Amino acid sequence: MNVDKIKIIENKLSVLHSDAEKDIFRMGKGIVRSIFRPMQPADFENAYLPISKKQGEEMRQLIIDNKSKNVVEFGTSFGISTIYLADAVRQIGGKVITTELLESKSQKASKNISDAGLSDYVEIRTGDAMTTLKDFQTPIDFLFLDGWKDLYLPLFKMLENQFHADTLIYADNMDMAATRPYADYISENKSTYSTRLIHGGKAWLTKVA
Ligand SMILES: C[S@@+](CC[C@H](N)C(=O)[O-])C[C@H]1O[C@@H](n2cnc3c(N)ncnc32)[C@H](O)[C@@H]1O
Repeated sequence: MNVDKIKIIENKLSVLHSDAEKDIFRMGKGIVRSIFRPMQPADFENAYLPISKKQGEEMRQLIIDNKSKNVVEFGTSFGISTIYLADAVRQIGGKVITTELLESKSQKASKNISDAGLSDYVEIRTGDAMTTLKDFQTPIDFLFLDGWKDLYLPLFKMLENQFHADTLIYADNMDMAATRPYADYISENKSTYSTRLIHGGKAWLTKVA
């Protein structure tokens, strides 16, 4: 294993996670605006809103253990989660397709992924995931849902044709009300999907049964 490569990845993740700890100061304006109208992604253009280190390491291990070569991510932000996913596929010879609505975030993610030495393993599609992943024709081994919560279900349904017996779906923020339609759909289709609640129900790991 290339020790220098691993060090570069871990250092970059450590810098990004510690910068993300200041998100609270970047989210103020968005939270105030959302008092008057529904929240919008652009309200949080400067915030990472990332998964935890523990979740990143967990997904990396899941992908390696299941040899999930084709990974799709909904919600890149500044690329913290993408770096974990890309590091996993680097080790098993796969690819991550990730999608981010906001151009400025997509650009920062691209720079962060490049700093981590992982650009060869990632394709970033900038724009609304419902468009950038439309007509997706590749079988999906691992799907990570972390974009706007009310799109979890429509996006999942749009990609469902590309799932197979070993597909894993990791959905974050399942404690948020907007994920309810997705939660209901998964729960109502127990013969097709089996789910384990992790991190006290904050995340759901679903397997095609
Ligand atoms: C919770 S953050 C993602 C955090 C990232 N996965 C991480 O852990 O580092 C959600 C991201 O989804 C993006 N987003 C929201 N709606 C989207 C859409 N329709 N298509 C693509 N990205 C979207 C937001 O701009 C935001 O950057």
